[in-house]
Amino acid sequence: MRASGFRVLPVLLLALCGAAGAADFVGADSCKGCHPEAYEAWMQSKHARAVSSLSEQQQKDGRCLSCHSPDQVAQQQASVSCETCHGGGQYYSPEYVMKDPELARLVGLVDPSEKQCRSCHDASSPSLRPFDFKESLKAIDHWSAERARRAARTEASAPVTTPPTTTAKK
Ligand code: HEC
Ligand code: HEC
Ligand code: HEC
Ligand code: HEC
Repeated sequence: MRASGFRVLPVLLLALCGAAGAADFVGADSCKGCHPEAYEAWMQSKHARAVSSLSEQQQKDGRCLSCHSPDQVAQQQASVSCETCHGGGQYYSPEYVMKDPELARLVGLVDPSEKQCRSCHDASSPSLRPFDFKESLKAIDHWSAERARRAARTEASAPVTTPPTTTAKK
């Protein structure tokens, strides 16, 4: 068991009490603080601007918002944001929770699935080609840079194995 049990308990209780409704969103800007690479990649994607594809009139039309900006009304988050895919971050975004993959998922972090993509990328969306999950994933890649940074960090913090000096002591 982790030493952080005392801190884990309150977040777990809060999450369970709130289980009736979904967790609140903290906003993409909060994620940005700790995931700058993911944020930059997302900003370049059409998901980050999905609401701007709609005219002013359409931006008030729930039928369009349901895919282009599904969390605008309830969570004040425009377009298809981090939390539209990963779940509201209220309980999982504190750092000590994020560092515990199991706990993070227990309190709301979602691993986005193909099914989830297809809830918007369905036959009614104006795509010329049918939705190809694997190809589409490549087009929204915001994790490779994240993983590279983490790998570099792990390497940097690994114990340095200095080769024994060859200049023999006399
Ligand atoms: C206080 C810093 C912090 C904030 C804020 C934060 N994260 Fe994290 N997140 C982390 C850390 C630390 C990890 C663990 C991996 C690592 O060390 O990079 C992580 C891991 C993740 C993972 C991978 C989890 C896994 O186990 O595969 C996802 C997905 C993620 N965060 C999404 C988000 C989203 C979405 C937000 C905003 C709602 C967010 N994070 C906010 C620090 C943070
Ligand atoms: C909440 C609805 C929603 C979900 C969930 C969603 N998308 Fe999207 N996606 C959109 C919308 C809307 C657009 C078009 C944005 C625009 O141009 O206005 C889009 C655009 C895209 C594009 C860009 C297409 C292009 O022409 O460049 C890709 C790629 C994509 N999505 C992949 C995915 C993948 C992969 C998933 C699942 C991991 C996913 N999407 C989940 C709504 C969604
Ligand atoms: C079922 C989900 C869904 C609904 C509902 C929806 N869209 Fe979309 N829309 C998408 C997806 C997904 C894409 C991106 C298709 C692709 O390129 O793969 C898209 C793309 C678009 C684009 C093209 C954007 C670009 O970058 O070229 C426009 C414009 C658009 N939608 C307008 C609308 C309007 C207006 C409404 C409401 C009448 C609406 N959409 C409702 C899912 C939806
Ligand atoms: C359209 C849905 C979608 C959106 C929007 C989205 N993500 Fe993701 N994210 C994914 C998917 C899918 C994966 C897992 C990809 C895989 O494992 O192949 C992922 C993976 C990640 C990871 C995991 C990296 C790792 O080490 O495993 C982090 C961190 C992350 N996303 C953060 C964010 C942040 C921050 C934002 C907003 C700035 C965001 N995501 C927006 C779908 C999304």
